[in-house]
Order: sequence, then C-alpha cells, then structure tokens
Amino acid sequence: MIRAGFVGLGRMGQAIAGRVLGGGHDLIVHNRTRAKAADLEAAGARVADDVAGACEAREVVMTMVADDAALRAVTLDPGGLRDSLEAGAIHMVMGTHGVSVVRELAAAHREAGQVLVAAPVLGRPDVAAAGKLGIVAAGPPEAVEFCAPLFEVIGRRTFRAGEAPESATAVKLTNNFLLGCAIEVMGEAFSLARSYDVEPEVLFEVMTDGLFASPAYSVYGRIIADQSYDDVGFTTTLGLKDANLILSAAELAHLPLPSASVWRDRLLGAIAHGDAERDWAVVAREQARAGGLDG
Ligand SMILES: NC(=O)c1ccc[n+]([C@@H]2O[C@H](COP(=O)([O-])OP(=O)(O)OC[C@H]3O[C@@H](n4cnc5c(N)ncnc54)[C@H](OP(=O)(O)O)[C@@H]3O)[C@@H](O)[C@H]2O)c1
Repeated sequence: MIRAGFVGLGRMGQAIAGRVLGGGHDLIVHNRTRAKAADLEAAGARVADDVAGACEAREVVMTMVADDAALRAVTLDPGGLRDSLEAGAIHMVMGTHGVSVVRELAAAHREAGQVLVAAPVLGRPDVAAAGKLGIVAAGPPEAVEFCAPLFEVIGRRTFRAGEAPESATAVKLTNNFLLGCAIEVMGEAFSLARSYDVEPEVLFEVMTDGLFASPAYSVYGRIIADQSYDDVGFTTTLGLKDANLILSAAELAHLPLPSASVWRDRLLGAIAHGDAERDWAVVAREQARAGGLDG
C-alpha cells in the first residue's frame, strides 16, 4: 500500500484517483474546485483543502491538471508540491505537458531533494475508469519502480521510456500527434464520402473492418459518423493545447511537422465556431463546413 496524494480531479483525475483508491492505497485528494471531490470522498478518500494537505506524509503525489500553467501553479506556487513534498517523495506528473516544463520541474524537485516521474497516459476517461490506460513512464529507475503498484491499478500496460522524464513526454506528444492527425484525416474522408451521398455508416464499416481496424478509428470514426461531439471525452481546448505542445517540441528540435500545422489550424477553426468545449473530433465538422456540407 502506497501513501498517495492526488491533485486535479477533472474527467481523467476523478477516474484515475478512483482506481488508486479502489486498489487499496491510502489516498488524499485535492481539487481547486472542491465539489469535484465529492464522489471520491463518499468512496472513502480524504479530501484536502489545499495542495499542501494532499502532500502530507505522502510517498507519491500524482497530478492530473489541464495544462502547463496549471502544473506550474500546483508545483511551484507557495504551498505547492515543491514546498510541501517530503525529501525523497515522488511527484508523478500524469497530465500531457510540454517537454520544457517537465525538464524545469524535474530540476526544481531535484534541488528540493524530491523526484519527478513523468507518467502521461493513453486513453479517454472511460478507459481510465476501467483501469485500462496505457502509461508511458520515465524518471529515475528506482522511483519508477516504486510507482509500479500504482501503475498496476491504473493501467493495463506501462511502457518505460527512459531515465529523463521528458522522454515520456515526447512519446505521449508523438502519440497524440498521430491520433490528432488521424482524426483530421477521418474528418476529410467522411466529408468526401458525404459529397457522394454515401451514408457515414458505410464508410465507418469499411474503415473499421479493414486496414484501419483499431480503437483509434472505431472510437473516433463512431463519433464523426454520429456527429456526437457533445459526448465529450477530450475537449477541443485540450486538443489545441497538445497541438501547440507538439509544435513547440518540434521547433525546439528544428523539426518541421507540416501535418501538425494543418491539424492545429483546424482546431483553431473549431474553437472560433464555438466548439471549444466539445469533443476534439469536432474538427470533422470544420472540414464538412469547408466543403459546404454543414452550416
Ligand atoms: N480527457 C482525456 O481523454 C485525456 C486523455 C489523456 C490525457 N489527458 C490529459 O490529462 C490532463 C487532464 O485532462 P482532463 O480531460 O481530465 O481535463 P479536465 O476535465 O478539464 O480537468 C482539468 C483539471 O485541471 C485542474 N486545473 C486547471 N487549471 C488549474 C489551475 N490553474 N490550478 C489548479 N488546477 C487546475 C481542474 O481543476 P478545476 O476542476 O478546479 O477546474 C481540473 O481538475 C490534460 O493534460 C489532458 O491533456 C486527457
């Protein structure tokens, strides 16, 4: 049993914290908006009023917050994880963040005698609730090993990316780049089929039965075929955040990623049309609009 803390109880955080609690670990949770802790409290988690409270006597504190600004705030602000974690304790960063912030916070924790492990996850909130996430972990090997009992209850498989935490970040961003561009291309494909009065269902069946028989195509193809963008697993706002993180990582490495630029523009267009809080597959509607198929 690990003495664990959890900061950030959004869609993913609530599901993952629920798995940690259900796995028999001793858990203190904290969320900026306290109401989101109600279900976990009812299930037996202790709720802290601030980040420091979620770090008290903890061996590992997980963070699952939206973006780099939020991660910096919960880590570096007075009373944040850096001030509050005990020496030797682990900050497990589970959100999808940029390579620069992960490097910066790893150094800040090192100076304070603490350890940062990056463990971004693959899968949507329903997958998280089922304990079936993929986890990409990187950090000092003993620290990653110490977290293994948590990975066991959270995920179906842990991929070890190396000793530098930003290696896991790079893998996660790369995977989201592939997925985001796949969604963009699916949007283009569905609009081409619709231009010839083909029912979306027909393309969905053909696509998922053959070369593209994979969860990426079946989950997102389903959403696009049904236009069920209000059933939100991952918002367009967070998709744009990831596109920007991917392009920043590429820029740091002097690497052109032309497809990422096209996809990022489509996310921006969706946000301009009021779809910021809809599912990020709504880029398909942008493409349909561009082809005169939707208003
Ligand atoms: N959803 C997915 O399918 C998915 C899959 C893999 C990875 N991820 C990644 O996981 C992370 C969380 O995603 P999510 O879908 O759970 O997002 P979400 O539902 O929007 O939750 C965001 C969380 O961040 C907290 N937060 C935001 N700004 C903050 C700040 N300045 N200070 C403190 N807390 C702050 C929110 O607190 P409040 O409740 O107070 O707003 C909330 O707990 C993101 O990095 C995302 O890219 C998501």
